[in-house]
Amino acid sequence: MNNDHVSINRGVWNDDAANWVAVGKRLWSLATPEWGNWGIPDEDLNLLPKNMADMDAIELGCGTGYVSGWMARRGARVTGVDISGEQLATARALAAEHGADITFIEGNAEATGLPDAAFDFAVSEYGASIWCPPDKWLQEAWRLLRPGGRLVFLGNHPLSLICSPVDGSPANRTLHRPYNGMWGADWTKVEFEPTGVCFNLTISSWMDLFTETGFDIAKYQELYAPEWASGTRAAIPADWAKYYPVEQVWHLKRQG
Ligand SMILES: C[S@@+](CC[C@H](N)C(=O)[O-])C[C@H]1O[C@@H](n2cnc3c(N)ncnc32)[C@H](O)[C@@H]1O
Repeated sequence: MNNDHVSINRGVWNDDAANWVAVGKRLWSLATPEWGNWGIPDEDLNLLPKNMADMDAIELGCGTGYVSGWMARRGARVTGVDISGEQLATARALAAEHGADITFIEGNAEATGLPDAAFDFAVSEYGASIWCPPDKWLQEAWRLLRPGGRLVFLGNHPLSLICSPVDGSPANRTLHRPYNGMWGADWTKVEFEPTGVCFNLTISSWMDLFTETGFDIAKYQELYAPEWASGTRAAIPADWAKYYPVEQVWHLKRQG
């Protein structure tokens, strides 16, 4: 594992931010949220509480901030944290365009510096959920949440990582990596579409970590590509993702 993941990932996202403006614009404009690479409607998944009035909510690794925007629209007081100043510039511009009053903070989701027990709800969609070591950011999310507070996060399913070739080319039906000992992957030097350092665990390791950190599991969802899907998104072909779980969502409750 590359230990300099924070500065590497900051650089990757600052350099790539311009390529995410159009996606951010589209997602900010949606009438109802859609999740993950295949845009699964929130009515099918229920990742966000329908009514967030009077809730303090935080997004860890908010990128262009559309999830923060959806939560603000549901009535929450929202803070979005991201390590990339360039991504936050887009988030701030889109929030202004949509009249959303959101506090965006440039910082590391593994150590935000925000006060203890300040939030009722925390969320991450492909943010801290994949770009930060799970033990570090889960501990931080636990600290930020009030007792009984909820954490919902979406990221790659471990099976999609196992089936992804080590050169970065699209996933297929071969096992390319061991499941035992999974920690994530360093994509910085791969031949196809190099990016940063990502993290993932085996399902039982995630569950052990939740228990050690002080979270109860409320729900676990495995996501597939919808029937209409075609082509390849984020290096996973639709024809793979219709048959194998491509993404996972954990719904957790802070103990205490
Ligand atoms: C794919 S975006 C996720 C946001 C949004 N849901 C999206 O899909 O565009 C990933 C974001 O995670 C941020 N990120 C990576 N490492 C981070 C860290 N250690 N702390 C905070 N944000 C981080 C990146 O800067 C990037 O904006």
